[in-house]
Amino acid sequence: MSQDNAATMDIGVYGMAVMGSNLALNMADHGFKVAGFNRHGDVTREVIAKHPHPNMSGFYDLQEFVSSLKKPRRVVIMVKAGKPVDLVIDSLISVMEKGDVIIDAGNSFFKDTIRRFQHVDEHGLHYFGMGVSGGEKGARFGPSLMPGGSRDLYESLRPILEAIAAKAKDGKPCCTFIGTDGAGHYVKMVHNGIEYADMQLIAESYLLMKHLGGKSNAELSRIYHEWNGGELKSYLIGITADIFAEKDDKGSGELVDKIVDSAGQKGTGRWTSIQSLEQGVDTAMITAACNARVMSNLLEERENFSKRIVAPDSWEANENIVEDIRRSLYTAKIVAYAQGFALYRSAAKEFGWHLDLGRIASIFRAGCIIQAVFLDKITEAYQKNPQLASLMEDEFFLAKINENLPSLRRVVAAAASAGIPVPAMMNALSYIDTSRSTQLGANLIQAQRDYFGAHTYQRTDAEGAYHHAWQEHYKE
Ligand code: 6PG
Repeated sequence: MSQDNAATMDIGVYGMAVMGSNLALNMADHGFKVAGFNRHGDVTREVIAKHPHPNMSGFYDLQEFVSSLKKPRRVVIMVKAGKPVDLVIDSLISVMEKGDVIIDAGNSFFKDTIRRFQHVDEHGLHYFGMGVSGGEKGARFGPSLMPGGSRDLYESLRPILEAIAAKAKDGKPCCTFIGTDGAGHYVKMVHNGIEYADMQLIAESYLLMKHLGGKSNAELSRIYHEWNGGELKSYLIGITADIFAEKDDKGSGELVDKIVDSAGQKGTGRWTSIQSLEQGVDTAMITAACNARVMSNLLEERENFSKRIVAPDSWEANENIVEDIRRSLYTAKIVAYAQGFALYRSAAKEFGWHLDLGRIASIFRAGCIIQAVFLDKITEAYQKNPQLASLMEDEFFLAKINENLPSLRRVVAAAASAGIPVPAMMNALSYIDTSRSTQLGANLIQAQRDYFGAHTYQRTDAEGAYHHAWQEHYKE
């Protein structure tokens, strides 16, 4: 039998670790014939042995893996971001043919995706950079998918992608064509930045309820569970309620108290933050969330300073503190999304992508880590006005900010007086106050720049750039 006659598989997945194997099984569940391959064959063997599926076959030779695929061949890569992706691409280019398609479904940096898109194109193949969110469970039963690449080609991938994607409440698949080259990975990167901010805000609400409200783990679990029945309903609040209820399987009490107070990161949040600085968009909440993880790693220094920097000895928390914290969390969440979506808006201009912000919000409604009922409101906001400059301008969100702002002010003030670090909430408040202030002191900054560097200044009463001969009024 010739190789072409043997080509019966609909799609290949390169990388049989947790995410790759689950994505492959998801495709197999939806009736697609999936070929699985891994650089180390043992990994594939183990997946096939553990999860035998009539639609999934393991391959142990790259050429055979590729030859098993129907033309045009489609291979999804799910390997560690960075150099491994380049190596896999080059090995695939050597065995694939013109017109075949490579889809990188890992958390690749979008600029790498832009470069790889061109590289693969030069070899006559097609490239997709696809953001995938939802962790292991999402990959297996329905992730949110953010494919970027060629618009025409997307149509040929669409049946598979829409079949495996999560479905929102209205039945719509959480997958949409995002834009060319690196657009899909860009959108995933900022999704992760927002995820960092969301997680940091929840962590701050926990600290506040524990230290200002005196809540036990059992009470916290109940509170988050209750919040998950309202406007804060989301995947992250749901798992937080579970976490506080989880007993330690290796000792007494709840597991959360036995976990080291130090969090790692793989880099997507940091990339978002760096990118926002480059694009000149304030995503301070995402940066605050990244820095909070960085600071959490300084365990020894924190221990040391905890004995040397004086803590406040008394503070007051109002009786309604839990409701104030809930409102603060919701309001700060609005700001985090406003910042992330402002970055999307700027990226569309900067990279020439047509980013449909309403569609992007709608594919975050299910499957992904930041899925929340809140996303319905963002979708609606962009449906009403696709040109919305800031999410905070939308009537619904504006009303929420005005309604909840006194709570956010009380909570941030209480945290400051009690010495509880809440960098993301403080940033949210400061972003709101900066947005509503007509006086920021930047006139003084202009004057200083002109004073020491003749950078010129602009006047309130006339057009143009001016330089002033500043006088030294005070001599040392
Ligand atoms: C998702 C997650 C996923 C992964 C992050 C975690 O959307 O499914 O974002 O991509 O969990 O990479 O990132 P950190 O390790 O940086 O927290």
